[in-house]
Amino acid sequence: MLSPKTIEVVKSTVPVLETHGRAITTRFYERLFAQHPELLNIFNHANQKQGRQQTALANAVYAAAAHIDNLGAIIPVVEQIGHKHRSLGIKPEHYPIVGENLLAAIKDVLGDAATDEIIQAWAEAYGVIADAFISIEAGMYQQAREQRGGWEGWRRFTVAKKVKESDVITSFYLVPEDGSQIADYLPGQYITVKAEIPGEQNTHLRQYSLSDSPGKAYYRISVKREDALDQRPKGVVSSYLHAQVNEGDVLEISAPAGDFVLDTAGDLPVVLLAGGVGLTPLMSMLNTLVERFPNRKVTFIQAATGSSTHAMKEHVAQLAENHSQVTSYTCYSEPSAEDRLAGNFDKEGFVDLAWLKSILSSNEADFYFCGPVPFMREVNRTLKDWGVPAQRIHFEFFGPAGSLED
Ligand SMILES: Cc1cc2nc3c(=O)[nH]c(=O)nc-3n(C[C@H](O)[C@H](O)[C@H](O)COP(=O)(O)OP(=O)(O)OC[C@H]3O[C@@H](n4cnc5c(N)ncnc54)[C@H](O)[C@@H]3O)c2cc1C
Ligand code: HEM
Repeated sequence: MLSPKTIEVVKSTVPVLETHGRAITTRFYERLFAQHPELLNIFNHANQKQGRQQTALANAVYAAAAHIDNLGAIIPVVEQIGHKHRSLGIKPEHYPIVGENLLAAIKDVLGDAATDEIIQAWAEAYGVIADAFISIEAGMYQQAREQRGGWEGWRRFTVAKKVKESDVITSFYLVPEDGSQIADYLPGQYITVKAEIPGEQNTHLRQYSLSDSPGKAYYRISVKREDALDQRPKGVVSSYLHAQVNEGDVLEISAPAGDFVLDTAGDLPVVLLAGGVGLTPLMSMLNTLVERFPNRKVTFIQAATGSSTHAMKEHVAQLAENHSQVTSYTCYSEPSAEDRLAGNFDKEGFVDLAWLKSILSSNEADFYFCGPVPFMREVNRTLKDWGVPAQRIHFEFFGPAGSLED
């Protein structure tokens, strides 16, 4: 139990730490990796370089501290992070390491302003926050381990099939090397791939959404290559998967995780909006609705630059043709001359409110979307402008979760 005084000190210093948030977490990571270089096998180096993880961690710590006397209010956020931590293999013994280095970084940045009283209060508060994460994650580890076909940590899967879905996206069908059962999952969830890449000093962990419906003998992931000519440096894991991982090779993955999942309890129509490779969790939802919920109307809206990057086009067209519950639309932002001639898209440019209103009879639906952050911002704003209540708007970030507000 924290004393009222400790709570007061922590809450009153949150704004100060927020002001220095970026500096503190940058210093924190410098210290962390200098003292524990083995953690470079867990953290995403690109997120570090782009400062995305710094912002995410800082925001989470301050949000937790601001609610230190009522952590129950931030349980959904802890759960979302907990899913990510569990899929990465973050363990209770990691927490003191993070706590120690965070406090030392606060001292480094604030200097004398960080009095012993303040540091002591934050040490206690961090302990309480860490315990909340550890206990929620313990439940997630147990569930991953004890479910049918489940496991803890990393499990070896063989690439049974590698299928090109578009110029930039390729699917990998993964079956367990030991031939035994695999864990079930909810449509929208992801796995983490642990990539041991020849020539790379560290292992690299990346999340990939499961792109087919559950209940199959395989997991399918569909990966966009991040190696366009203007992209320097190229993406480490996606380039490796595309160029070097072939049928018969083995990938280590953790059990499915994630809280961006299709709510199958309701009966409202479902609208799925996919931007680029953000189609993967939505494809799992679409296939699930067709296979298991034939009475639920679903509209699948896919945004791509043009037909060359439009993945799983034939599959969606087939579903729409064979299942009256499914309607599909395509938006191309940069249609080619051939696309224009073929007229194989429904809208040029981006999803906007006028167009959405023209294709959907009402906003009475559950909306799910995923894609590049600018796409997600646009869709989020459009849905809000249309008056869709927040509880019917669901989305996933393909990186550290951030804000969609302008
Ligand atoms: C929940 C979740 C689900 C996901 N699902 C999918 C999915 O289904 N399919 C999919 O393809 N991806 C998915 N992702 C994204 C995926 O995890 C990877 O982030 C993606 O494949 C890129 O990883 P990479 O190793 O190839 O690139 P990284 O090496 O991580 O680089 C990422 C980007 O940063 C750039 N970059 C690297 N270093 C720097 C630097 N110093 N300065 C500036 N830019 C730099 C690279 O050019 C690249 O564009 C998902 C992510 C999450 C969190
Ligand atoms: C109370 C303490 C902690 C908080 C508040 C916290 C917060 C966060 C947040 C907000 C994210 C981003 C989640 C997202 O992807 O949306 C994250 C991811 C992550 N966390 Fe934590 N975390 C804590 C402890 C730890 C510990 C102890 C470790 C292990 C040393 C750790 C390792 C990671 C890693 C590796 C990621 C993924 C980041 C990446 O992609 O590089 N975290 N954490």
